Amino acid sequence: MCGIVGYIGKRDVAPLLLEGLQRLEYRGYDSAGIVVTSPKAAGLKMVKAKGRVRDLEAKVPARFKGTTGIAHTRWATHGAPSDLNAHPHMSADDKVAVVHNGIIDNAADLRRKLEADGVEFLSETDTEVLVHLIARSEAQKLEDKVRETLRLIEGTYGIAVMHADFPERIVVARNGSPVVLGIGEKEMFVASDIAALVAHTRQIVTLDDGEMATLKADDFRTYTTEGTRTTAEPTTVEWEAASYDMGGHDTYMHKEIHEQAEAVDRVLRGRIDDRFSTVHLGGLNLDARDARAVRRVKILGCGTSYHAGQIGAQMIEELARIPADAEPASEFRYRNAVVDPDTLYIAVSQSGETYDVLAAVQELKRKGARVLGIVNVVGSAIAREADGGMYVHAGPEVCVVSTKCFTNTCVAFALLALHLGRTRDLSVRDGKRIIEGLRKLPQQISEMLEREEDIKKLAAQYADARSMLFIGRVRGYPVAREASLKLKEVSYIHAEAYPASELKHGPLALIEPALPTVAIVPDDDLLEKNRAAMEEIKARSGQILAVAHQEQEKADHTIVVPKNEDELDPILMGIPLQLLAYHTALSLGRDIDKPRNLAKSVTVE
Ligand code: F6R
Repeated sequence: MCGIVGYIGKRDVAPLLLEGLQRLEYRGYDSAGIVVTSPKAAGLKMVKAKGRVRDLEAKVPARFKGTTGIAHTRWATHGAPSDLNAHPHMSADDKVAVVHNGIIDNAADLRRKLEADGVEFLSETDTEVLVHLIARSEAQKLEDKVRETLRLIEGTYGIAVMHADFPERIVVARNGSPVVLGIGEKEMFVASDIAALVAHTRQIVTLDDGEMATLKADDFRTYTTEGTRTTAEPTTVEWEAASYDMGGHDTYMHKEIHEQAEAVDRVLRGRIDDRFSTVHLGGLNLDARDARAVRRVKILGCGTSYHAGQIGAQMIEELARIPADAEPASEFRYRNAVVDPDTLYIAVSQSGETYDVLAAVQELKRKGARVLGIVNVVGSAIAREADGGMYVHAGPEVCVVSTKCFTNTCVAFALLALHLGRTRDLSVRDGKRIIEGLRKLPQQISEMLEREEDIKKLAAQYADARSMLFIGRVRGYPVAREASLKLKEVSYIHAEAYPASELKHGPLALIEPALPTVAIVPDDDLLEKNRAAMEEIKARSGQILAVAHQEQEKADHTIVVPKNEDELDPILMGIPLQLLAYHTALSLGRDIDKPRNLAKSVTVE
């Protein structure tokens, strides 16, 4: 989705901002723009371009100097991708420039009023109303002009504002769309994502909803939209700039798939308690008594995180014997769900900023529920809104499609299930068994990844398919769902996941040689049932690729996955299917890291 980056200091701002925009490219965008000035300059200078950051760079003139600037990558919502619709937007007198992430719900209304008052709009965007309102404000200070404008706005925003009459400051505000300040030595940065900051500073301040900030080269201050000062202690981010590099891989997706052994090692580190065969999860803010009082668990997330939640729900039911289920947060928030005080709600999100998940958390909190967050990005909105939770410590995930965060989230759920189980009836022996299984995971993931060449060959054989069916049963079903999502996202091949148990209730009608089926076949108590499903497909001349713990006679091909404990098997079974999706997309020449129409962090509805 859209990205913001801004700088104020002594350095030449344009190259810095262009580099910042490149770091945000992974979020998905269709146009970009930049505006700069300096205390000595006469006014603001702006360049915008449809297309990539490199297209913008090519348009920036040699003499485009300044020491204050803001820049943006836009992901079209109101109005098609074009030079005019790209941000920044500037007022008619060229004095005010704004970049904006989010959606202004009452933009059409405000636009009508402004047009009736003689204001001419240059773009079709909702953002442009902000610029005109700020420019027309009669307040003396830039902060007050912005504040007055925000009072008229309904919707979500992360904004950065510059004004030709105040070249020594940038004013920013947040409501529902992330804004992070980067604190440097006699220089300040702002961005919508720490990815754009970490090359310059690891000291950050994350704004809350309803908060604004003024950045000057040697100072920043934060305050509410009502003007009350807020305290903002900078925190240090652990992620290094190098974590955002491709590290010798051709794509981020490939790099991130290969980082999984190390990432899983990180989510486990320091959390295992061998003495009591359990885990320490201090951040949950849930003591043993609270944990025992939980009567249900409800997990909320979107897309891949929702699938990780489905795996998590099963682990919680199996290990802690607490009824648990997962639901898309995007649905939950609109159905006036019954909120039960004895239910533990868990919000799952890699980015910690997905609007649907955040809105579900806010609705739950409003109704008095206890909400935990399972999140990757430290300090993100969902992490801060939740009553407690766990970080999955996967490191930055740059590819739009999620791989290592999915795996680490599943492992985080295994830790939580073990913790809840050991406050209840899970025996010491079972606790030990799960811990041993968890400890084996990094090594088994590495073994799995060593089979990449075989999976690549299989991908070449299936890349011609127009559609693919993924089936699994109980533990295997969420794995099938996630694998089917991965394949469609990166390869654009239609894929559908079904419980294997439901085959004869409908989808069997689709089976023919041209529709390959990927069957998830763990060696557990449902093995024979899964074999029977494969028989049914084979009897109708369907092709089968099995993901199993041993060669499957009924399958045309089998990817053999190392066996772990039954409860943990779904974690490993997802990994070869990430590689299958990756190599299928590669052989079809797809834009793997930035699939069409998708964005990394969905901060709008
Ligand atoms: C799929 C994918 C998306 C995200 C979803 C939620 O590969 O990445 O389905 O999982 O948009 O995002 P987060 O986890 O950031 O809340």
